[in-house]
Amino acid sequence: MTAITLVQGDITRQQVDAIVNAANSSLLGGGGVDGAIHRRGGPGILEACRELRASHYAEGLPTGRAAATTAGELDARWVIHTVGPVWSGTEDRSALLVSCYREALRVAADLGAKTVAFPAISTGIYGWPMDDGARIAVRTVREAVADPVEEVRFVLFDHYAYGEFAEALAAEGPEAPPG
Ligand code: APR
Repeated sequence: MTAITLVQGDITRQQVDAIVNAANSSLLGGGGVDGAIHRRGGPGILEACRELRASHYAEGLPTGRAAATTAGELDARWVIHTVGPVWSGTEDRSALLVSCYREALRVAADLGAKTVAFPAISTGIYGWPMDDGARIAVRTVREAVADPVEEVRFVLFDHYAYGEFAEALAAEGPEAPPG
């Protein structure tokens, strides 16, 4: 059974196998989580991102997809970069946000990661409402998480985000029975 935990804090300080980055398609850094990961992770992450662009993603990492690099100086083995959808009031892009969590978990499992830290993807610069972002995150992770992942840790940057994720977790009820 996989544990889903909540932490209020800075995702770049988590000691886990994989840290998920709320990146943009360029994979060349940005603000928010992306900026923090590159700042604390050091130039090795950007170098690996440039290699990803040169080898697999010439046009950039598409929204909803995920790709892993070294974690550089971070206390993790990998950073899994994923590109969330920008919030739209007229178009339902939920499927793309679901895909971010699913794809990041798939990449984590393929790598053999046992512990994975997620930020609240798209809920910052990309403007996704926190309550809906939390619901999608919790529901998707509960459905999609698989061995060898043993812990999924949502790392929330502030009290408000933490509260919304706690509500979403409670609303999902007790863990689904194994099997
Ligand atoms: N640790 C944990 N959570 C953080 C941190 C941090 N160090 N910094 C920010 N957050 C939170 C934000 O408060 C927000 O709730 O992460 C969530 C996602 O916010 P963003 O990092 O802005 O990511 P997103 O909304 O997905 O926008 C992605 O922002 O940084 C750029 O390059 C990135 O263009 C891309 C866009």
